[in-house]
Amino acid sequence: MSKTHRAVVERQFGRTVEAFARLAVRDTPEVVAEKVQFMRPQAGDVALDVACGAGTLVLELAARVRWACGLDVTREMLEQARRFQAARGLANVGFERGEAGQLPYRDQAFDLVVCQCSLHHMSHPERAVKEMIRVLQPAGRLTIIDTLAPEQDAKFELFNRIEIARDPSHAATLRWTTFRRMFDEFGLGVVDEQIRRRERRFHHWMLRAGHDRGSRRYEQTRRLLEASIPGDRAGLSPRREGDDFVITHYEGMFLLQKKPAGR
Ligand SMILES: C[S@@+](CC[C@H](N)C(=O)[O-])C[C@H]1O[C@@H](n2cnc3c(N)ncnc32)[C@H](O)[C@@H]1O
Repeated sequence: MSKTHRAVVERQFGRTVEAFARLAVRDTPEVVAEKVQFMRPQAGDVALDVACGAGTLVLELAARVRWACGLDVTREMLEQARRFQAARGLANVGFERGEAGQLPYRDQAFDLVVCQCSLHHMSHPERAVKEMIRVLQPAGRLTIIDTLAPEQDAKFELFNRIEIARDPSHAATLRWTTFRRMFDEFGLGVVDEQIRRRERRFHHWMLRAGHDRGSRRYEQTRRLLEASIPGDRAGLSPRREGDDFVITHYEGMFLLQKKPAGR
């Protein structure tokens, strides 16, 4: 990640940690439980959550594995994650500051590696995925969860323009075909794949990025979203509800394993 983009990510998540982790949480406890289940954690696993944010997922995962690590580039997120850890009295989790594209771990150190809703903040997501593969045991499991962008070029561009208007640390949400091509190229087999439709309230989504009604980014993003309604030009399927909108994200969950050499 370039120094400039890293600074944008750290600024964004440093200032929104409260909104992101406490006030406008993204997933219900049921959704978090579903995701943990999807990863097939084993009691003896040593697990890593890359770009763990405030630790929601890794703390849930910790209850099911031997040891779990959360890594993130934003100091404030890690501080929040440690507070959540203390509140839950979990002793088998460690948090570390670091960069997904250059993981500070030895080869094959983990049985389970996860990365949720973070690749779209990285200007070189493929470098982070390569690193996740490097630190994964040969028979280990890698779970990638992220929003999927529309396949069609014009919709893909507007979708990402709206995301960037909302959050300048957004690099690009990838398409399902891009994920699948990357997995193939990197020798990863898809063990399981689920695509979930997640409805989000626009206002809540904006609060999570640190913007309330009346702020420049809030209004600019809202204008772009409203303009996309005819023909659903950004693929977000916005639907008016009173003074708010409901938008739809498609979230891809991929459970991956390294293919044996030569296959
Ligand atoms: C949208 S949050 C998701 C956090 C968490 N995975 C979750 O699902 O709640 C994105 C996180 O990615 C982190 N991040 C972005 N780029 C990163 C990078 N290159 N290396 C490490 N962390 C990164 C940010 O600091 C932020 O905490």
